[in-house]
Amino acid sequence: MLRVGVLVSGGGTNLQAIINAIDNGVIPEAQISVVIANSDMAFALERAKQAGIPTKVIVRKNFPSPAEFDIALANELRSHTVDLVLLAGFMAILGPDFFTHFENRVMNIHPALIPAFSGPGYYGLKVHKAILDYGCKVTGASVHFVTPEVDAGPVIIQKSVQIHQDDTPESLQKRVMEEAEWKIYPEAVRLFALGKLQVVGRQVIIDK
Ligand code: GRF
Repeated sequence: MLRVGVLVSGGGTNLQAIINAIDNGVIPEAQISVVIANSDMAFALERAKQAGIPTKVIVRKNFPSPAEFDIALANELRSHTVDLVLLAGFMAILGPDFFTHFENRVMNIHPALIPAFSGPGYYGLKVHKAILDYGCKVTGASVHFVTPEVDAGPVIIQKSVQIHQDDTPESLQKRVMEEAEWKIYPEAVRLFALGKLQVVGRQVIIDK
């Protein structure tokens, strides 16, 4: 049984997609062991409670340094013997101390086709606004393994989404979630749970 820990900050729709995929048997042999938020306002905490998943709030400002915050997160995840960590709208950057415990076992979902419109400063609606301002015709979402460099780890799955001429950042954000994010994040977790992902340098090899 794969034990998953999910880090959240906001609405938690990606968390919900993964809860649903586990409940429906789409992701076999997996359970979410803990959901950790860096704010007690995160609606994702409600979703976790509804699903009967243990929750924890760990707030950055309660720690003297980013490194100590990272260690507190890692310790909480380890206390639940978590095998895989999912960042699902987690609005904090993790430092190297975190990854020593979870190398190639941390995933993130980014609402663009990495490496476009990714890296520091590209989060939330800013990503979609930048894509529309540039005049792109296609965008999408990417699931990748997380490394200390923001949005730069090996890509696991990407899915494209057409941009409409009348899109706003809000309408594009919604369609990227519905058409891409909520599909590819559960799929990446399913592949991990089945032991089908192998990282070789920058490549993620998927065992079909
Ligand atoms: C998603 O757009 C995700 O790609 C990004 O943050 C957002 C989180 O949304 N990393 P939610 O909290 O899962 O609804």
